[in-house]
Amino acid sequence: MNKKPSLLNRLFAFAGSYKYFTILGMVLSGISALVGLLPICFIWIGAKEIFAVYPNITMSESIVTNAWLTVISAVGAMLIYFFALMCTHIAAFRIAKNMRFQSISHLMKLPLGYFNETGSGKIRRVINESAAATETFLAHQLPDLVGAFVTPVGVLILLFVFDWRLGLISLIPTVLGFLSMNLMTGKDLAGRLKEYQTALENMNNEAVEYIRGVPVVKTFNQSIFSFEKFHKAIMDYKEYVLGYTYNLRKPMVMFQTFINSTPIFLVLSSILLISGASDMKNFLLNFLFYLFFTPICATMMNKIMWISQNTMLAEDAVNRVDELLHENPLEKAREPETPKDFDIELCDVSFKYPNSNENAVSHVSLKIKQGQTVALVGPSGGGKSTLAALMARFWDVEKGCVKIGGVDVRNIEESQLMKNISFVFQNTNLYKASILDNVREGNPAASIQEVERALKAARCEDIIKKMPQGIHTVVGTKGIYLSGGEAQRIALARAILKDAPIILLDEATAFTDPENEHQIQLAFEKLTKGKTVLMIAHRLSTVQNADCLYVVENGQIKEQGSHPELLKLNGEYADMWHEYQSAFMWKESEVQA
Ligand SMILES: Nc1ncnc2c1ncn2[C@@H]1O[C@H](COP(=O)(O)OP(=O)(O)OP(=O)(O)O)[C@@H](O)[C@H]1O
Ligand SMILES: [Mg+2]
Repeated sequence: MNKKPSLLNRLFAFAGSYKYFTILGMVLSGISALVGLLPICFIWIGAKEIFAVYPNITMSESIVTNAWLTVISAVGAMLIYFFALMCTHIAAFRIAKNMRFQSISHLMKLPLGYFNETGSGKIRRVINESAAATETFLAHQLPDLVGAFVTPVGVLILLFVFDWRLGLISLIPTVLGFLSMNLMTGKDLAGRLKEYQTALENMNNEAVEYIRGVPVVKTFNQSIFSFEKFHKAIMDYKEYVLGYTYNLRKPMVMFQTFINSTPIFLVLSSILLISGASDMKNFLLNFLFYLFFTPICATMMNKIMWISQNTMLAEDAVNRVDELLHENPLEKAREPETPKDFDIELCDVSFKYPNSNENAVSHVSLKIKQGQTVALVGPSGGGKSTLAALMARFWDVEKGCVKIGGVDVRNIEESQLMKNISFVFQNTNLYKASILDNVREGNPAASIQEVERALKAARCEDIIKKMPQGIHTVVGTKGIYLSGGEAQRIALARAILKDAPIILLDEATAFTDPENEHQIQLAFEKLTKGKTVLMIAHRLSTVQNADCLYVVENGQIKEQGSHPELLKLNGEYADMWHEYQSAFMWKESEVQA
């Protein structure tokens, strides 16, 4: 079985040669911890001397030297620690940078569909926060951990040197403390910590969902029910926190009791040992030394305990980054070919979303000849948007193939594919940027005049007129909102500016007012003139003139043909059409009344 590499090795994988800075930083931190013990020794030696010559302190020759050595070693320890931190910081920043860099360059290779599926919030969190979590671990906790291990070892050696019996006794609580610490950081705890994190994440997600749902909740007057999920998430979280804390109660109490019990051990054992001491003065001095300095061990052990908990957090962060890096990228075309024209063909295509068990579309074949307009209609969830996404290679098909100009899209270079396709989405996403920049996404080299012409062609003049700074107005900022229909018209202007030979249009399902609808219709016509067009329509009025219509239901094509042919067939489409007609008539009659 393959053993999972240690956290440090996994982090080093991002470090390149900078890992040596981390190692140097750890070594320096250990040295600094040892040097940090010297002042204690010098003070102790000095104290012993003072006792020896008391009350004639001036008789001591080395007392001043000792004082200087104390100061020098203390300053030296600090300086070495400073350099240690400098090294670990240099490496930590480099590792965090590389983690972010690798994640982002891997993201660039992922299928576009991944971004629809995975919220931008989650991606941002993984890249930003995970890298930051490892940074704290590498820059501070790791060197401190080395120091925290080295100090007790150094102290213990000193304890043995001065009086091995007292040293041995001071060792007992430390060993017991270590044993009970093991109870706390065992496997069970790691699992619990993960559950705890998941519960926390759940609660946060439910909170966001709850807030997002407030308008719906209010309009449907269902405040109590909708709070239930959020409430449950809070309760789950509470349960985990309590369980986690209760679990730690015993080992934590044991740990703290043991590591702080050295004085009791020392006092009790000294009472027994003192009668046999040959040099009473020396024994008492050693005793005092032990009494004052063994608490250093306790402090350091506490430090180790907290660091080992934080290590799990860093591990979790690396796991998240690894998960992202293991997302399958789209395969690059090995021998890229250039499409000979802009015919689009789906040959027996089946596809299921990565997070789903059922096919979203199965065995779909259809063809759009260059310059033709093909429309997809059918019930919600039928698979229309999925088919459009497959044409633009947002995902790779599972079976069959998608061809453009006779070439499998997997053999067309990504940049070329993207250059030839304009996609207007169902839920138009405009950036928080000026209208000018939003439209210019379609062609970054376009002049302002060209952008204005595209906006005019997409019938956006009335929108621009309303805006305080015209096309320089930043959308999405305070007070500047666009309706769904207006946003879609801006997106159409962007597509018009791009002027790609293939247009994929996913009509907005949101109801827009008749005036907006009319404007959108005119913009569509301008955009699609002479292009190869796939149109997904929810309003049948927009697709009557298409060269061919496909009815998509349950991921399959149920009917196909032109509008008159399908009406003649008297099947599903005919039903949809009659329904649409009667709804339309009903609306008309309402207007007349
Ligand atoms: N990102 C996704 N992950 C998993 N399943 C998905 C995803 N997107 C869509 N699906 C599923 O795939 C099927 C087809 O969805 P699709 O969005 O293609 O339907 P549609 O015909 O465009 O519907 P609508 O008319 O409402 O836009 C549905 O069952 C849907 O639940
Ligand atoms: Mg759709």
